[in-house]
Amino acid sequence: MKKIVIMISGRGSNLVAIAENVNNGILQGECIIQAVFSNKRNAAGLQKAEQFGIPTHVISKTGNYNFHLLDWLRSKNPDLIILAGYMKILPAEIVRAFPQKIINIHPADTKEHQGLNGYKWAWEKKLAETKITVHFVDEGLDSGKIIGQRVVDLRGAESLAEIEKRGLQVEHEFYSECIKMILERID
Ligand code: GAR
Repeated sequence: MKKIVIMISGRGSNLVAIAENVNNGILQGECIIQAVFSNKRNAAGLQKAEQFGIPTHVISKTGNYNFHLLDWLRSKNPDLIILAGYMKILPAEIVRAFPQKIINIHPADTKEHQGLNGYKWAWEKKLAETKITVHFVDEGLDSGKIIGQRVVDLRGAESLAEIEKRGLQVEHEFYSECIKMILERID
């Protein structure tokens, strides 16, 4: 059975969707979630992980954040590290320690928009569609090789909240599909 670690910073709705798919959906029998990591002690997603019985680990402000994180990740030895709303850039030493083993979901086409607030960007630009992107994490900001993209139809959306709702609905399905595909490629 493959082992995955999920990294979050906040709400954790993607984490919940993945955990549901591991328990009862397309990821059942594919992997176990070893742990959920957060860089924020008050991330709402931590409680959600605990409700699924998933161990959690937090490293918040410390001078040696990257050192402790690398050490902890190595101790888990995961097949795949899944960023799900993890809002901190991973340093080169962590990216290099897990080549092609860290993936991220981004609420926009990473070729068009990088960093925070992908839905706000789509709303302000009045886009008719946006592309949820799942990509490998490299040393840059949302610059890693694209694994897959899925279009979200934004026509007729009357608020940022509506755009986010439509986008998250797609994220929640699409991320698990990509995770399944990547896990199947790992021996
Ligand atoms: C998601 O929309 C995810 O795509 C985005 O943060 C949100 C996390 O929501 N990630 C990024 O913007 C990364 N650049 P969640 O905590 O409910 O899963």
